[in-house]
Amino acid sequence: MKIGRITVSDRASAGIYEDRSGPEIEKVLEEFFGNEAGFEQAVVPDEVETISATLKKFADELRCDLVVTTGGTGIAVRDVTPEATRPVLEKELPGFSEAMRMQSLTRVKTAILSRALAGTRGRTLIVNLPGKPSAVRECLEILAPAIREGMAHLRGEDPHQS
Ligand code: MTE
Repeated sequence: MKIGRITVSDRASAGIYEDRSGPEIEKVLEEFFGNEAGFEQAVVPDEVETISATLKKFADELRCDLVVTTGGTGIAVRDVTPEATRPVLEKELPGFSEAMRMQSLTRVKTAILSRALAGTRGRTLIVNLPGKPSAVRECLEILAPAIREGMAHLRGEDPHQS
């Protein structure tokens, strides 16, 4: 299993901040999937073209099974991760983002400020997460069962059709 993680942040990509959210993606997914996963990583600025190009590279060239982004999903002027993700997706998975926001809202009243998207490109599952390390964990815990099953479907293994 190959997993790409992309941290979207002007400041982390410039080295002004330490990237704590990207490593948190790895930590939480290792807790769920064990150490069978190999990780590709990138830290990019909040620029539509760069984010889209990195998503395409991770999906089409590196053939990641899953690509998780963190950051840039809000409404600040520089937040453009959804705008960069939408044209890269072939099939949208609105339920991923709906569940993430609704379940997060029970604990964090600002959860609905995230415009995160999810969907597929070829055999790659792509998921946007908010930027805070705590949000990365909260959201991945909500999505992990559907991520696991979604990846099986993309590999052509439908556990319900044997
Ligand atoms: N979702 C969860 N689970 N936990 C959080 O702390 N923070 C919210 C929201 N979603 C949050 C969350 C906040 S404050 C913002 S502004 C948006 O995600 C967008 O964050 P981003 O721009 O870093 O992606």
